[in-house]
Amino acid sequence: MSHRYSHDVLIIGSGAAGLTAALNLPRHLRIAVLSKTALRSGSTQWAQGGIAAVLEATDSLEDHVRDTMAAGAGLCHEEAVRHTVSNGRASIDWLVEQGVRFTRTDDDSGFHLTREGGHSHRRIIHAADATGRAVADVLCDRAQEAENIEIFEHRVAVDLITHRKLFLPGNRCVGAYVLNREDQHVEVFRARFVVLATGGASKTYLYTSNPDGASGDGIAIAWRAGCRVANMEFNQFHPTCLYHPNAKSFLITEAVRGEGGHLLLPDGSRFMHRFDPQGELAPRDIVARAIDHEMKRLGADYLHLDISHKPAAFIREHFPTIYEKCLEFGIDITREPIPVVPAAHYTCGGITVDHAARTDINQLYAIGEASFTGLHGANRMASNSLLECLVYGRAAAEDIAASCSHVPTPPEVPDWDESQVRDSDEDVVIAHNWNELRHFMWDYVGIVRTSKRLQRAKHRVDLLSREIREFYSNYRVSNDLLELRNLVTVSDLIICSALQRQESRGLHYTLDFPQTRDKPEDTLLTPTSFMAPSP
Ligand code: FAD
Ligand code: SIN
Repeated sequence: MSHRYSHDVLIIGSGAAGLTAALNLPRHLRIAVLSKTALRSGSTQWAQGGIAAVLEATDSLEDHVRDTMAAGAGLCHEEAVRHTVSNGRASIDWLVEQGVRFTRTDDDSGFHLTREGGHSHRRIIHAADATGRAVADVLCDRAQEAENIEIFEHRVAVDLITHRKLFLPGNRCVGAYVLNREDQHVEVFRARFVVLATGGASKTYLYTSNPDGASGDGIAIAWRAGCRVANMEFNQFHPTCLYHPNAKSFLITEAVRGEGGHLLLPDGSRFMHRFDPQGELAPRDIVARAIDHEMKRLGADYLHLDISHKPAAFIREHFPTIYEKCLEFGIDITREPIPVVPAAHYTCGGITVDHAARTDINQLYAIGEASFTGLHGANRMASNSLLECLVYGRAAAEDIAASCSHVPTPPEVPDWDESQVRDSDEDVVIAHNWNELRHFMWDYVGIVRTSKRLQRAKHRVDLLSREIREFYSNYRVSNDLLELRNLVTVSDLIICSALQRQESRGLHYTLDFPQTRDKPEDTLLTPTSFMAPSP
């Protein structure tokens, strides 16, 4: 018999989005927060640059809106941008109230704001170059102190439980089946409300800045349950990850360029002005594509990012994490340039939600990188992601608080059925398919695309889907199998979306359709199990 839990709200994911929602819910609601690994996990931990918000009189909400929409290449939803940007200051005030200590100016007169690509002002509030750690530490501490929040670590959501699955009328989510990684059993989590806060899907690619676990679980889970997803072709590649055989996925923050760092070719010359008048501070899609172009043109394995012309004390003070990490690999960034390459970084598309983070299924919400709010358009502007986690995390909490009095306790749900499966004796299939998928996604669905490469990728992902479906039906689930199953689904969504977009825009660049169409349109994918949302 499955272990069973029952809560008012089940939050799947303990990053910035999930914990913001949990901490903003009324104290009388009993909340479960799940994490696939330890509580402190996900991309939030690794965020470096900071959080974009209008915090100075010389800046304005209009400028933040304009910069975001320009970076988004015509696809941002203006009302989502305005909603997010106008909640920036309140979100930062809330973090400060919770105890986050952001870097202050040298004279201690206020917060130090840095600059990143696409921003016309200094507007990135940060904690040196480890903002994510500073935010996550505080939110995790607050969540652990809260009496109404129960934290479940090493729990992997497998699939949602919906009325539809239970053959009940209506279109409601009532919980999730969850693998307990410690005893390998699937448990039942029943809840009146479920929030997906599972982060992005950049592990679909061979090279990524993201930690393990960014396998798009929430997006795949929501899709299987009947939610629409949008704009999955817009996978952002960060221009500068450390290139070193022993450095796994280490990002060199855009703030290094914001504080004057130069991108250099192997001969030491700068090149970004040839691609965009904003040079090193052009939006990310342009910088990543320029680096990719120059690396391919010159047959170079990497290019350089150099900040060594700045005083050593300044570099050590502003970028202590990067300084220490590079030193571990024998690179002293105060004296020499850093070898860098682009890597998959951020999923701009996701589960479609409205301004209150509601999905297509009643009582199911999606927030953070797993969601599609319309904020990022065809290319997310730097440091707008944590802001989105905070704004929509709070919006979901407020919507749940407003509706909880009339949402009844969910019905009883059946145990997870393991009667037809056995232990796998073929785990090599999982490891092999993981590698194959991430290789062909990198080679065929990367920074520069063609229809032929996308068709090749589609053919391979179809084969993998069949194999994984069979594996899943016959063997007991494990974390690796679940992640692979989700990665295959999400890769398919990315490829199908990329094939549908017959133009180049923002992060989607294809040699077969190099022009940008006059009329911007989202790519909306609808699952066969979709039910139109009830009013
Ligand atoms: P995450 O923080 O990724 O958390 C996901 C959570 O979901 C984790 O707890 C995970 O364990 C859990 N989870 C996932 N799947 C399951 C499952 N099946 N079952 C149970 N739990 C599950 N953005 C900025 O705005 N500014 C920055 O400076 C910045 N720097 C970045 C630097 C790096 C290196 C990276 C990788 C990203 C950076 N980003 C930055 C992007 C930003 O950090 C992320 O988009 C954001 O943190 C996502 O938060 P989230 O809460 O949506 O998900
Ligand atoms: C960085 O610090 O360069 C990452 C910022 C972001 O992804 O928003």
